[in-house]
Amino acid sequence: MTGAASVGAAVTGTGFYVPERILTNAELEQMVDTSDEWIRTRTGICERRIAPKGTRTATLATAAGRRALASAELAADEIDLIIVATCTPDTPTPSTACVVQQELGATRAAAFDLAAGCSGFVYALATAAQFIHAGVYRHVLVIGAEVLSRVVNWHDRNTCVLFGDGAGAAVVSAAAADGVRGIELGADGSGAGVLGIFGGSYMPHAGLDAQADGPQIYMEGQEVFKFATRICATAAERSLAAAGVPPERLGLLIPHQANWRIIHAAAKRLHLRDEQVFVDVDRYGNTSGASVGIALAEAAAAGRIAAGDAVVLVGFGAGLTWAAVTLIWQGGTK
Ligand code: UT7
Repeated sequence: MTGAASVGAAVTGTGFYVPERILTNAELEQMVDTSDEWIRTRTGICERRIAPKGTRTATLATAAGRRALASAELAADEIDLIIVATCTPDTPTPSTACVVQQELGATRAAAFDLAAGCSGFVYALATAAQFIHAGVYRHVLVIGAEVLSRVVNWHDRNTCVLFGDGAGAAVVSAAAADGVRGIELGADGSGAGVLGIFGGSYMPHAGLDAQADGPQIYMEGQEVFKFATRICATAAERSLAAAGVPPERLGLLIPHQANWRIIHAAAKRLHLRDEQVFVDVDRYGNTSGASVGIALAEAAAAGRIAAGDAVVLVGFGAGLTWAAVTLIWQGGTK
């Protein structure tokens, strides 16, 4: 779906924010019938972050956005558009992006939320690039942010050990050379029933005679696992091909951090060495729409990406959706 870009787009800054509170596997052992050993071996997760009471998705998003702006050396009022990818918006409306716009003081920016589950950050980055390529905007702030701890059923061991809170952000700006290529977006709505958050108008247990308990995550883990192991490598391959980047030129794969086993399977299929794959699922768990944004910002801060490197971002999740882009890195050096 990549066309000839009239204006180049590039990621010029990144930032992330995670709450301080760490929830360990040992603590979860006290809450549900699980074990540190099960969680580590089945998912690779050791700990995750939990937002304190009163902290909203917009709070995390604003903190990450502010750091991305600083890294891009941009003032808030230079931003033309803010896109917040989230499946835990503060409210259905107004959008979380509007709250972020106000909190950042990005007075010139248009703002909207984007819903694509765990593919959200990559969908949003691809959307931002379209506005730049078309010459409509010069600077777009893309943020993935989630407070999943509010929609987790803390009595359900099948899901509660998996998720965490956080936010990741990137500035996408007009550039001389195009650095956001190989956009590969997909959706398969026939899989809508295997993963999601009950809420909104679809509340099967709510009605005139029954009170809803509030939105809650549901997931058929094995169905999602099969989809994820297949689509992660496939989307990365398609993105590289569409970008015209030979697979052997891939510097770093930054996949959605859902499960170490899914990441490992994708890396194996793509013939990647450990150092070519970014992993932080051990420290943050699955932060859904925020995960690829957090990982990109961490990878950049850790010097894992050099100028000129090809970096593939891949998201997959509820919808079902998937998304991949190939970045030709124009920022920082190792
Ligand atoms: O972010 C969006 C995309 N999401 C994903 O990609 C998630 C994809 N799915 C997965 O990562 C994995 O399916 C899970 C990590 C969710 C589950 O791993 P699994 O290897 O598929 O386990 P399972 O669901 O087949 O369960 C195996 C066993 C079951 O017990 P029995 O029936 O074999 O006796 C479960 O009841 O493990 C049990 N189990 C647990 N045991 C201890 C499930 N959750 C737990 C738990 N602690 N937390």
